[in-house]
Amino acid sequence: MLRLSPDTAYYKGKVRDVYTKGDFIFIIVSDRISAFDVVLPAPIPYKGGVLNGISTFFLHQTKDIVPNWLIDTPNSHVAFGHLAPTIPIEVIVRGYISGSMWRAYDAGERMFCGNLLPDGLKNNQKLESPIITPTTKASAGHDENTSEEEILKDGVISKTDWDLIKKYSLELFNFGSQYASTKNLILVDTKFEFGRKKDGQIILIDEILTPDSSRYFIADSYLDKFNLGETPSQLSKEFVRQWLIENNFMGQKGEMVPEMTTDWVNTISERYIELYNKLIDQPFVKESKEFNLVKIQTTYDAFCQNYYA
Ligand SMILES: Nc1ncnc2c1ncn2[C@@H]1O[C@H](COP(=O)(O)OP(=O)(O)O)[C@@H](O)[C@H]1O
Ligand SMILES: [Mg+2]
Repeated sequence: MLRLSPDTAYYKGKVRDVYTKGDFIFIIVSDRISAFDVVLPAPIPYKGGVLNGISTFFLHQTKDIVPNWLIDTPNSHVAFGHLAPTIPIEVIVRGYISGSMWRAYDAGERMFCGNLLPDGLKNNQKLESPIITPTTKASAGHDENTSEEEILKDGVISKTDWDLIKKYSLELFNFGSQYASTKNLILVDTKFEFGRKKDGQIILIDEILTPDSSRYFIADSYLDKFNLGETPSQLSKEFVRQWLIENNFMGQKGEMVPEMTTDWVNTISERYIELYNKLIDQPFVKESKEFNLVKIQTTYDAFCQNYYA
């Protein structure tokens, strides 16, 4: 736990520890892993560094397309920047039908957050063009599907702001897809969050294009596997979800999280690092969060001095 300076507010997210003060936010990306909106019992070594590294890379790469919150990433598990309270909508962009959307489609659903999908799609098939399936960002419990119609009806956000967020999200998705294709990857789907700064500006917040917020397929084997009806090789948290489902856990009341053996935890860690190394040219450098605690405190103290003098 950090020694906090006065007036710092603390929010413990599922994965991140969030400290806010004035107009700024200081985030420690922990090694915790969540699935089906539940934090699993064992932390995944280096996961925080993987997520923070990937997200930092993409926030820098896209800052000219969409303004974002990040000012600096002073060490592997920390990032800080502008505080922009969350617009409570998770904007999910999908180029392919996969994961939870496939599970619902397979059960007969055709209408997804205002997007009508044709019959006859197969699991992991490419959609005609990317679609946006927003969910409400619940402060507790599960996020719920919503639609443009409901969002505008509820007055969560104005039409002008929603149009801007949609435009930003599709541009980011296109960027991510193009970038992924240079790394023999397919960006399948991803989630963005936006916030509003005190001056009213809407900016991109949170992490982007990480394996927690996105799903990637390996590109060169995709078509063969898809045509054979096999699951494409993929890099994301989906394999953890799949393992949970096989062990009868989908985040519902009364279900028990299966035991995570050391081997399995290490496998998950390796898969995260593998994705980092596939996406980013510089190889991943392992720095454990425990080892870093002193460094994190020093960074936090400096952040407070520089930003709240
Ligand atoms: N720049 C920002 N300003 C305000 N809130 C932010 C910003 N960046 C991220 N957040 C919020 O910080 C939290 C990050 O921690 P996370 O572990 O993802 O939490 P959660 O369990 O709420 O998803 C999220 O709630 C996200 O909306
Ligand atoms: Mg989150």
